[in-house]
Amino acid sequence: MTLNDPFLQLLQESQIITATVVVFTIIGALFILLKTLSFLKLIVDVFVLPGKNLKDFGAGSGSWAVVTGASDGIGREYAMQLAAAKFNIFMISRTASKLKALRDEIENKYKVDTKMYAMDFTKGDKRDYENLKDIIEELDVGVLVNNVATNHEIPTPFYLEDDEIIHNIVEVNIAGLLKVTKIVLSKMLPKNRGLIINGGSFAGTVPSAYLSVYSGSKAFMNTWSQAIGAELKSKGIIVENVNTYFVVSSMSKIRKPSFLIPLPGPYVKSVLSKIGIPGGASFYPFNSNPYPSHALINWIISNTFSWSFWVNYTLGQQENIRKRALRKREREKEAAKSQ
Ligand SMILES: NC(=O)c1ccc[n+]([C@@H]2O[C@H](COP(=O)([O-])OP(=O)(O)OC[C@H]3O[C@@H](n4cnc5c(N)ncnc54)[C@H](OP(=O)(O)O)[C@@H]3O)[C@@H](O)[C@H]2O)c1
Ligand SMILES: *[C@@H]1O[C@H](CO)[C@@H](O)[C@H](O)[C@H]1NC(C)=O
Repeated sequence: MTLNDPFLQLLQESQIITATVVVFTIIGALFILLKTLSFLKLIVDVFVLPGKNLKDFGAGSGSWAVVTGASDGIGREYAMQLAAAKFNIFMISRTASKLKALRDEIENKYKVDTKMYAMDFTKGDKRDYENLKDIIEELDVGVLVNNVATNHEIPTPFYLEDDEIIHNIVEVNIAGLLKVTKIVLSKMLPKNRGLIINGGSFAGTVPSAYLSVYSGSKAFMNTWSQAIGAELKSKGIIVENVNTYFVVSSMSKIRKPSFLIPLPGPYVKSVLSKIGIPGGASFYPFNSNPYPSHALINWIISNTFSWSFWVNYTLGQQENIRKRALRKREREKEAAKSQ
């Protein structure tokens, strides 16, 4: 028998084919196994594992939580629930009257100390940040919630967007974020203790057409959170970019809660009960996805289809929202005219 023997050749070929099939079967099985394990980890994270105890950050022992954008929506819930956990609350927001009402409510209900400071972050006023520094100087800060943000009024192509709106988003979502965090860190670092919760958004991971500046500001927040999270980890300070899908609020303009879109109350409850646990945020470190249905969506986005699919999907979604918003504007114009 020579090597040219057709029978031998056939045998060799069939062995190669068999080996190839086996190798690809193993790769496929490993792939499915890994995806299954990462999904199981999500389930365990979201439904089983307890988060860090807020007492680790000074709850109940005179520590303060600083909450920006505290007068409404998600921020208001952070202020309330952190007060319920026995932090003293320093709330910073735009509208003084809303802050005063919240302060009274918190003091009556939870018997903790409070401070408030009304400022408009879009102004980028140096004096405001100096005042913040003076107030925070006196406080033992255990928690910072970087929650304040501003958004496009309606989904708008970048080249048509108002310069003032663009400026405001950068001033609030980026410049304000950095300045407040730096002030608070000067109080956390000497104590080697602290929790920084950043109000992230899905728009920061999946680029959102027509919300380009907001989306970019949340991407900034996400990347910066990971970078400082790495710097601060060995110093006892936990940084968490809380990757949020829609929540009922005046910013989202969604009024009715649903399976995918919770009220701020249950949403914030899930965040505060899962500190240090990634949930659905399997890809980026220093990120978390504590709310079950948000965790599920994030897992699906990270584990199925391509990134360009999701960018295109979001484009379609925002185009629809823009159309509806423009029609609403037209109706409002007509109504105003006929009055
Ligand atoms: N809602 C969602 O679906 C969603 C999704 C992903 C991420 N997020 C993030 O979650 C955070 C909170 O959003 P939200 O939906 O709770 O918003 P919201 O209901 O509109 O509340 C925003 C809060 O920030 C304050 N604020 C707004 N602009 C300000 C400014 N220029 N200076 C000072 N304070 C200002 C508001 O004060 P006033 O009371 O004076 O208005 C209010 O207390 C944001 O970072 C947002 O990007 C929200
Ligand atoms: C992008 O999404 C639209 C629907 O919004 C769809 O019709 C189109 O085929 C998608 N394009 C790609 C390349 O996926």
